[in-house]
Amino acid sequence: MTGTIPLAGVIGHPVAHSRSPRLHGFWLSRMGLPGHYVPLDVAPADLAAVLAALPRAGFRGVNVTTPHKEAALALATGATDRARRIGAANTLTFRSDGGFDADCTDGEGFIANLRHARPDWRVDAGPVAVYGAGGAARAVLDALLADGAAEIRLTNRTRTRAEALRDAFGPVIRVVDWADAATLANGAATLVNTTSLGMAGQPPFDLPLVGIAPAALATDIVYAPRDTPFLRAARASGADTVDGLGMLLYQAVPGFAAWFGQTPVVDAETRASVLAS
Ligand code: ATR
Repeated sequence: MTGTIPLAGVIGHPVAHSRSPRLHGFWLSRMGLPGHYVPLDVAPADLAAVLAALPRAGFRGVNVTTPHKEAALALATGATDRARRIGAANTLTFRSDGGFDADCTDGEGFIANLRHARPDWRVDAGPVAVYGAGGAARAVLDALLADGAAEIRLTNRTRTRAEALRDAFGPVIRVVDWADAATLANGAATLVNTTSLGMAGQPPFDLPLVGIAPAALATDIVYAPRDTPFLRAARASGADTVDGLGMLLYQAVPGFAAWFGQTPVVDAETRASVLAS
């Protein structure tokens, strides 16, 4: 593909809401690199055919988002260990001989966001409280464990989903019933909301966050709005907070580097670029 302008994009259904085209477009233009990154609205029934055809049209790779993350992993020629553990892919890189490799960079983005915001943050500083056991929680838990978490307390409205994650990831995770979720924050050094509570249009997060450890760090995977009920409650209880937008930005770095050849920097300008309407 030497001599062609590299193409990449994001496949979703719907996909119009995705901020990834704005983000990658900003990096391409700031770094003066040739390339285009486009939104691709693909119905589930068409995913395999589209993934087979895109490399022939000059695409180096794609991000995949809801509802394609699990299906993309199943279709991949190769996959990273973390994508297999998480059971989902968000970053696909096409091979020159056909097929594609799948990775899941959501957990890496999650950790990078915390590290850049609070360089002294350590996952083993104390218990980690995780709210929610959906798809996003899998990537968050995998990253917390890979980083060396010693104790993770996990609660979810539907308890069986939390138990399934404990069974998959091991006994460092302790399941706490949603009815007892008020105890989760007690002594916690890191707190993470992975539920959709607090997202625009969803009910607010309203569990009490009391007794958290001094200098605790709280973060929310919800980034619209930036300041969520969860982050406000955590701050009121004395925690430092990091909003979820950074996770979205950092998870995009490995794909951009693979497809366009240079590693982009996440900074205030990058944040502003995806927030601009
Ligand atoms: P994602 O891939 O973004 O994690 P998901 O798999 O649909 O999306 O998970 C959404 C999470 O938010 C789940 O933990 C869900 O709890 P359930 O497993 O019980 O559905 C949680 N969630 C959504 N609405 C909720 C509500 N009203 N109260 C409590 N938890 C809620």
